Amino acid sequence: MWIADIRFERGITAWGQLPRNGFPEVAMVGRSNVGKSSLINMIAGRRQLARTSRTPGKTQELNYYAVNQCCYLVDLPGYGYAKVARARRQAWQNLIDRYLIQRAQLRAAVLLVDGRHPPMASDLAIVSLLRTADLPWVIVLTKSDKLSGNERPKSVARTREALEAQGLAVPVILSSSKTHSGRQAILDWMEHFLGYAPDKPQSSSA
Ligand code: GTP
Ligand code: MG
Repeated sequence: MWIADIRFERGITAWGQLPRNGFPEVAMVGRSNVGKSSLINMIAGRRQLARTSRTPGKTQELNYYAVNQCCYLVDLPGYGYAKVARARRQAWQNLIDRYLIQRAQLRAAVLLVDGRHPPMASDLAIVSLLRTADLPWVIVLTKSDKLSGNERPKSVARTREALEAQGLAVPVILSSSKTHSGRQAILDWMEHFLGYAPDKPQSSSA
């Protein structure tokens, strides 16, 4: 899949605001601060398309990015700890739960997990939700630039083991928004679910 064009369309805070044009969607889901918005920027090849922060709780709306004017990448607020009022956090978490389970246009989810640590109970809670949602999904292990060469395959192996313990065989992709590693694997995986996805045009002299 080649991204010819990507632009922020809108941030959504209530079910009734979801787009009605029928474009297929792939969502970025995960705990606060794992790097969902950074991954959108990495995929887009833009530094500041999505806003990121060292402080958990930066993304507080379902942010829709239109790709190639045919489909959406959706950057979700994070699950778990965030420096915002409890009631506000609960409201968006309820909206994300409903979105993952009921949104007809949602074709697949990318579950981001911090590659530096074994999957946490809160990551596995999202796994349960994705099982309920009955969606195709993939795990992206983030921040691989912070791992040594030895630690990288270990991170993938322990994640696979945690999934196998739950009877799951899900693709695991190691990524870094700093070095852009994993970018093509993520795009290739998403292409299956987004329908129309043009390849990069060949130059006419080829
Ligand atoms: P919320 O919106 O709060 O749910 O967080 P998020 O999952 O969108 O995380 P965000 O992309 O804002 O990144 C959180 C922090 O992790 C920022 O300081 C990023 O710079 C950093 N970060 C994200 N991805 C990477 C990565 O691949 N490598 C490194 N070294 N840092 C990263
Ligand atoms: Mg974010």
